[in-house]
Amino acid sequence: MLEVLDTLVAWRARTDAVRRGGATLGLTMTMGGLHRGHASLFERAAASCDVAAATVFVNPLQFGDPADLAAYPRDLAADLAVAEAAGVTLVLAPPIEEIWPAWPASTATTVHVAGLADVLEGEGRPGHFDGVASVVTKLLVATGPCTAFFGEKDFQQLCVVQRLVADLALPIEVVGCPIVRERDGLALSSRNARLSAGGHRAALTLRASLEAGRAALAASPCVEHALEAMRRVVAGEPLVTLAYAAAVEPSTLRAAVEPPRGATVRLLVAGVVEGVRLIDNVAAVVGP
Ligand code: PAF
Repeated sequence: MLEVLDTLVAWRARTDAVRRGGATLGLTMTMGGLHRGHASLFERAAASCDVAAATVFVNPLQFGDPADLAAYPRDLAADLAVAEAAGVTLVLAPPIEEIWPAWPASTATTVHVAGLADVLEGEGRPGHFDGVASVVTKLLVATGPCTAFFGEKDFQQLCVVQRLVADLALPIEVVGCPIVRERDGLALSSRNARLSAGGHRAALTLRASLEAGRAALAASPCVEHALEAMRRVVAGEPLVTLAYAAAVEPSTLRAAVEPPRGATVRLLVAGVVEGVRLIDNVAAVVGP
């Protein structure tokens, strides 16, 4: 039976009670718009913890573009059905005033993860990761000790969260989970629903560019060649505007310049298709 709470006080009391009863808590934070990618996180939480919990909150602080915020899907009943089917038994779905009482005025306290928040997606979306880090910190503090599951699809977000949890010594274990893809390889995202069939086909070049980069790095340690291969693939698809193609050291997100053979780097790509910003990434081992 799914229990849905909407205040931080009730959430804190309920998650405390779970732990006091000797059970472990697995948390997945979401903004709703739930799909199979989220369900895979819920299932992982349910399989590895006694109680699988989830938050559903569309966080306005992480949207730079008001149109993007307005277009974000909101259907709590559908989200709860997805969560329950995937083994979640406890949900926090707070109204905006519960999390950001002063909204649309800003709060005095925000969380900024220097360095990690300012590159890649952070460059194209100023303030985005401050919004993410602030809400994640608030929700983690309210939840208390737990294991928190984050998808690798938002690889930079995962790094930001890992770093803030370490820096603030929060009693949380962060677990990164593999990207879930459509059958044709497109990384699942609630934004995919905004693409036409042609846009969807065009978006597949993002994955193709990562594969080209991965193959290039497996054959030679030259990062610049790999990045050129990635850019070439995207340039061949007129419906996609490349935002960036990058190869980074996976925990610092610093550009991988001369990675040694055998090292694993993360290749990331972002592009805009039919006005929709999409991201994808993959691990690549430097060869030969
Ligand atoms: O990944 C998301 O859906 C959001 O960025 C998160 C972690 C729920 C914070 O609002």
